[in-house]
Amino acid sequence: MKRRDFVKNTTLTAIGASVLAPLSSFAGKRVTHINSEDLTLIPKIKDDYALHFMALGDWGRNGEYDQLEVAKQMGIWGTEHPLDFVVSVGDNFYPKGVVSEFDPLWHYSFENIYTAHSLQCDWYPVLGNHDYHSDVDSQIKYGKISRRWDMPARYYSKEISLSKGKDKEDGPVREDKTSKIKSKALLLFIDTDPFLHETKADYVEKQMSWINDTFKKASPDVTWKIVIGHHPYHTVGPRINNYDTLTMRNALSQVFEDNKVDIYLSGHEHSLQHLKPGGYTHQFISGAGSELTAVTAGIPESRFEASTHGFMYFSVGPASLNVKAVNTEGKVLYETTLAK
Ligand SMILES: [Fe+2]
Repeated sequence: MKRRDFVKNTTLTAIGASVLAPLSSFAGKRVTHINSEDLTLIPKIKDDYALHFMALGDWGRNGEYDQLEVAKQMGIWGTEHPLDFVVSVGDNFYPKGVVSEFDPLWHYSFENIYTAHSLQCDWYPVLGNHDYHSDVDSQIKYGKISRRWDMPARYYSKEISLSKGKDKEDGPVREDKTSKIKSKALLLFIDTDPFLHETKADYVEKQMSWINDTFKKASPDVTWKIVIGHHPYHTVGPRINNYDTLTMRNALSQVFEDNKVDIYLSGHEHSLQHLKPGGYTHQFISGAGSELTAVTAGIPESRFEASTHGFMYFSVGPASLNVKAVNTEGKVLYETTLAK
């Protein structure tokens, strides 16, 4: 639906409803979300990849610790480059999450920070440990009143077509149902904090069977499998060998290997990293949305590490997937391309 149709339809619906029913009867039916396609900009820089998204983590600090500077560059980057959505890899709100979908932090740390037109696309978040200090379900509830925050559950998945065409010359990219290429990307958004608490073993077991089921039921067209969670299973930051990292490694390594997961994308470490431990999966960390922590250079499994503010930008096509680490000046600090 185009923006003007959306406005027109919403207005007409509201007028009709007000005539037919008292206000209180449709208070729970507010429509506030528009699919990001409706807001897609026409970027200056184009490429042949079908899907583009940014990954950002560990950010919600009222604009401080360079959160605002990272946000500004994300906006500039998203104006110049294609962008379908933003992935938030958790610790969305410091220091203790949000208390409700009406918490003022939604404005102080999110809405009034990521203000660029290009960032008014869908945001697909996961939860971090700091989010767990308050009511995590209010981050799901916010999805019902937000224009862009799209979090249907504590863990969820998306299959996204990589066979895309254009509506018209230079127009927004949309799924091309006539394409002979049937490639898809499967994204699993997982809830990692409960893995670190023995009291939540039942919840973790249920989530693990959902993860295995989701891989089992995935479309045969899926080319790329990307898992997104907050806690890394490998890192060269301060948590290189701590309980969090080793617990996640113990829980996820085998399922990643069995299901040929291409990428595990996380935050938690406040830096930008690309690691290639033994096995099939690449680990990317994009947790540099505000405060920074140190990294250690020279660890063999690390291909890139930087304790620098910024974000990652993913471009995905049927045959290749490109990842860039971008700093607050818009400089590409590191770039890699994985091929099928
Ligand atoms: Fe964290």
